[in-house]
Amino acid sequence: MLAWAIVLGLVLGGLDLGWIGLALVQGLLAGAIAYYLELPIWWLFINLLFFPSIALARQWQLAPHWYLAALAALLLTQLGAVRGRVPLYLSSRQAKTALLGLLPTGPGSRFLDIGSGTGGMLAFLARARSDLVLDGVESAPALWLLSRLRLGPRAHIALGDFWHADLSRYDVVYAFLSPEPMSRLWDKAKREMRPGSLFISNSFEVPGIAPDASIELHDLHRGRLMLWQIA
Ligand SMILES: C[S@@+](CC[C@H](N)C(=O)[O-])C[C@H]1O[C@@H](n2cnc3c(N)ncnc32)[C@H](O)[C@@H]1O
Repeated sequence: MLAWAIVLGLVLGGLDLGWIGLALVQGLLAGAIAYYLELPIWWLFINLLFFPSIALARQWQLAPHWYLAALAALLLTQLGAVRGRVPLYLSSRQAKTALLGLLPTGPGSRFLDIGSGTGGMLAFLARARSDLVLDGVESAPALWLLSRLRLGPRAHIALGDFWHADLSRYDVVYAFLSPEPMSRLWDKAKREMRPGSLFISNSFEVPGIAPDASIELHDLHRGRLMLWQIA
């Protein structure tokens, strides 16, 4: 709104840039405001690109099937956002390195990435720790397929809903999701995970439950890893 108010002020002040120019100015302003407010990085990109994309699509007079294709691509990759308000964004290199330092050192430990996305975290751990048993579960079909092709037999990645995963089989469960599922997920972790096992959340707190340890990541998400040892 603030970005549009500034654009309106510029127009009333006599600036004439055409629709594309105005949309670009609005995008830059909205992106700068997101940066100033220290919003998560994905909001910065959404703010930056939303109106410029609409203006460009109008300008190029895209055929309707492109919109349909974009919708299909969104559904295949962002089903988690549609169903459970957990969109796709990827763990940073800093998160992967920090997580590696938290894993049990004994061979054969079992690790689960719930909402494993494109399989980046699993691929990193596969390279770093050949002794780990690696599992993932992902609900978006395109992401599941991509991660299956990427990991091959090195990890078992299920296409499905993490609410149906049995967490009792794992020494470490990693979640990089959104604020939405955290309360319910913590209840599930407490109910199912074995004493001594680790529940680790990237960036999203469990409301009202302080973590046993927390590591700042200094990454683009301005994230942190929070770790709970199950009692
Ligand atoms: C923020 S991404 C994290 C991706 C990956 N774990 C990483 O760290 O790079 C969250 C992922 O969870 C998936 N997801 C959301 N809800 C899910 C559910 N109920 N069951 C399985 N996957 C889900 C989304 O499709 C998305 O790929």
